[in-house]
Amino acid sequence: MHKPILLFTLFSNEQLSQTILKSIPCDLGNLAFHHFPDGETSVTIQSDVQDRTLVFLATLDRPNSKIIPLLFAAETAKALGAKRIILVAPYLAYMREDKAFHLGEGISAHHFAKILSTHFDELITVDPHLHRITSLDQVYTIQSTVLHAAGAIAHWIETHVRNPLLIGPDSESEQWVGDIAQKANAPHIVLEKIRKGDRDIQVILPSMEAYQDKTPILVDDIISTGRTLIEPIKQLVHAIPKHYPICIGVHAVFSDDAYQDLLRAGAEKIITCNSIQHISNHIDLGNVIADSLRESIT
Ligand code: R5P
Repeated sequence: MHKPILLFTLFSNEQLSQTILKSIPCDLGNLAFHHFPDGETSVTIQSDVQDRTLVFLATLDRPNSKIIPLLFAAETAKALGAKRIILVAPYLAYMREDKAFHLGEGISAHHFAKILSTHFDELITVDPHLHRITSLDQVYTIQSTVLHAAGAIAHWIETHVRNPLLIGPDSESEQWVGDIAQKANAPHIVLEKIRKGDRDIQVILPSMEAYQDKTPILVDDIISTGRTLIEPIKQLVHAIPKHYPICIGVHAVFSDDAYQDLLRAGAEKIITCNSIQHISNHIDLGNVIADSLRESIT
């Protein structure tokens, strides 16, 4: 008889891991990291992984400090006889540097894909930032599955907001905003963004005259510095003074004080999915991931 899969939660994804554990037959694996005073890391896998399919649930925000522990864990599991390792990275890092923007610059999306493809057998992720790379298959050589948060986000909007207007802050967001708007049966518009630097962003808001009775909802895949949403928030609070904007992000990266900065700029509330654990998580992606895993292991 086949043993059920072994689920290891490597970094903080407890809520997701609980939903997955309840939804599919799997055992919880035990793994411990020890961080030495010199900065090196040791991994111990305490579960029997021999001939088993393992799932590593490891969201990859702040990837630099996670990557060595993650790869060591994968190599340790293989050395102990694991049959197959599926990496579930609800947030997949290093997708935004998808071309060399300057002479001599490395394309980190390619390098990161090569590293993960070498150490894992399969990848499952949610709404990776696909822009100039239009499919993970262009850079990942292992089987990859892209899941979408659109259904869960649309459901949250339908059950929490009256008369919504979905707003994408830039052309890249059209893919997410359009899909969510269709599922939530709501209108949407997409703004024009000019990025001049990491925190230097200009956004052009069209006339909002026709939308005075709407609740504006800014939707983006990643909220990092928050600047992409702060600029339209500052304009929207004047353009639709009756309803301050709600911000929805799939991935709550939130660098530095981004969360507070968004509230200070005038966001009514900030809602995110739990691909990265954060106080703003209100949308659970556990079932979306569990459904995909169920297909992967049968
Ligand atoms: C890039 O185009 C993405 O879709 C997001 O708009 C971007 O990553 C958000 O970054 P930040 O919060 O730093 O403006």
